[in-house]
Amino acid sequence: MSAPVIINIPLIKPYITQEIKDKVMEVLESGYLTEGPVTKEFENKLKAYLGCDYVLAVTSATTGLEVALRVLNIGPGDEVIVPDYTYPATASVVPIIGAKAVIVDVNRNSMLIDYDEIEKAITPKTKAIIPVSGFGNPLDYDRLDAIKKKYGIYIIEDAACAIGAEFKGVKVGNQADISVFSLHPRKFITTGEGGIIATNNEKWANWMNSYKHFGMDMSGSSREGIQFDIIGTNYKLSNIQAAVGLGQLHHVKELLARRIELANNYIHLLKDIPEVEIPTSLSNGQHSYQSFCVFVEDRNRIMAEMKAKGIEVQIGTYSLHMHKAFNNHPLVQIKGDMKNSKWCFEHTLTLPLFNDLTFQQQELVITELKSAVRQLKSVV
Ligand SMILES: Cc1ncc(COP(=O)(O)O)c(C=O)c1O
Repeated sequence: MSAPVIINIPLIKPYITQEIKDKVMEVLESGYLTEGPVTKEFENKLKAYLGCDYVLAVTSATTGLEVALRVLNIGPGDEVIVPDYTYPATASVVPIIGAKAVIVDVNRNSMLIDYDEIEKAITPKTKAIIPVSGFGNPLDYDRLDAIKKKYGIYIIEDAACAIGAEFKGVKVGNQADISVFSLHPRKFITTGEGGIIATNNEKWANWMNSYKHFGMDMSGSSREGIQFDIIGTNYKLSNIQAAVGLGQLHHVKELLARRIELANNYIHLLKDIPEVEIPTSLSNGQHSYQSFCVFVEDRNRIMAEMKAKGIEVQIGTYSLHMHKAFNNHPLVQIKGDMKNSKWCFEHTLTLPLFNDLTFQQQELVITELKSAVRQLKSVV
């Protein structure tokens, strides 16, 4: 009798090569461990890749979003609109700086913020929207731009998952007033923990750079030595972390091309399985596939069965209104029934996706998914 085949396919695998290990060792041996020239090199390379005028490395996307709200002078008495179906950080940063988070529903098919719901939620107190390019799926920036102009509000994009995504051939990071990316290990480029703020506004970039350096004057113009111009904090990204990111950034084009290739292969393998629905994305955009998500009925059972078979699958993200933190908080308002967000939460399943995933492994994933989905049909 032949031994049973043991499947072991993780959800993600950070891209860590010998080149990265060598670069980290080089930093460790240099003794220059805090933010320094490697962080600067990482910022410059990312700036060239994204095509943005200013790129600042920070400790996380969460702290990056907080800094973006602060530079736009948003605070007590102001309202900021955020989607319900997202990671909690998107909304939490708003009460953290003393403003009110107004949570609206998403589109059931794309899982992205519902543009009509944004307009319904705008009041004279609305200062900004934080739309999310969820899972790397680019937003409709034409719609967002029209809303921004009509109401005179800012757009801070939570682009945590969207390094490499594009809208009309332009990289995400250039469409919003300020865009913030995450460098968490689930993300396309990781530094362990970390974040990136991108903007084309020099004044804001200078203020944010000072704020993340304890409020220091970063122009280097002071004759008396270091000057502190504003009350700031420490959100610096160390040379060690930047070394990890830099080694990935050197291969960013191939890494992204591989993700897109693998995602397209999943789409191809799923084409004859009508029980599995693929979320929609714009025809004039490029999804960066930080996560490859599908919609299925009875998601929790399917997830458990696939995990039991050795395939690590996951939920998509969270429906904020279902969590205590966002209920009955004086600085959070849930606008509407969140029907679509709840549906997305209950139906989304994330499939394994990482650089050295093979087509053969993808076939195994889809075979098990198909069998789990068809089992549901025979039970019903
Ligand atoms: C949409 C979204 N926003 C914000 C965050 C928070 O990012 P970070 O862990 O870098 O603070 C995440 C992390 O998963 C995210 O997915």
